[in-house]
Amino acid sequence: MSDIPSAEPNHNALNIQGLCKYFFGLRALDGVSFSLSRGEILGLIGPNGSGKTTLINVVTGLLPATSGQVFVDGTEITNKKPYQIAYAGLARTFQTIRLFRELTVLENVEVAAVSMGLSRKAARQRAIEILEEIGISRWSEMLASVLPYGLERRVEIARALATQPKFLFLDEPAAGLNEDESEELLQVLSSIPARKNLGMLIVDHDMRLIMRLCNRLHVLNFGKTIGMGTPEEVRKIPAVLQAYLGKTVAGV
Ligand SMILES: Nc1ncnc2c1ncn2[C@@H]1O[C@H](COP(=O)(O)OP(=O)(O)OP(=O)(O)O)[C@@H](O)[C@H]1O
Ligand SMILES: [Mg+2]
Repeated sequence: MSDIPSAEPNHNALNIQGLCKYFFGLRALDGVSFSLSRGEILGLIGPNGSGKTTLINVVTGLLPATSGQVFVDGTEITNKKPYQIAYAGLARTFQTIRLFRELTVLENVEVAAVSMGLSRKAARQRAIEILEEIGISRWSEMLASVLPYGLERRVEIARALATQPKFLFLDEPAAGLNEDESEELLQVLSSIPARKNLGMLIVDHDMRLIMRLCNRLHVLNFGKTIGMGTPEEVRKIPAVLQAYLGKTVAGV
């Protein structure tokens, strides 16, 4: 899938065209365009404050776009309500974890499936399958409030998967994980897009994870695109190196 915005939105992809989000004078997103196909893993990277979370918030309807358009499989979803966008096939996780702390792991995932209109019975079945798939079924009955941090992150991903998305956005899933946990996460995430036929967009500062997981990268700085391509290509782009100068981005 090309990064060049097409006049005709692709019918089997997420297309973002000229997306802008201004907070008063601040241009948090300034004309960002890219596409994400099913089965693909796209890394959205950039220094702190470059607009990554804002992009996820605008695309999923949490914040209105200032201008630009978003299409899912050719249907425009720009500035629709979050629940309409969820029904259109987009799911996300949050940079700050948001679980129902008084519910069990299984119930947390079940609630997400029920929110998409499934019966309790069907939702439970789906939740059981997803927990199995991402390797956390042995913690099903544990209360979310007592889960170790690394597992909370995985429950968030399970909740997003329970809505059976066409496109999944993960905002810093490896934040705060140690090296072993990050390695486990890599294994879990790498098989999801092909198995579920979904496109995955991942934001993270863990460059080791990003470089190994992603098929393509899109790099933002001050809300603008400063590079895109394969991980190999992106690590050679001068503007990208410049943006990361002095930061710990071993992989770049
Ligand atoms: N609701 C808001 N109101 C005003 N400014 C905002 C708001 N949300 C984000 N910003 C600003 O927009 C810019 C982009 O922020 P954003 O959170 O998207 O960055 P990020 O790339 O996700 O950074 P990080 O890697 O630190 O999570 C920052 O300058 C931020 O301060
Ligand atoms: Mg962020």
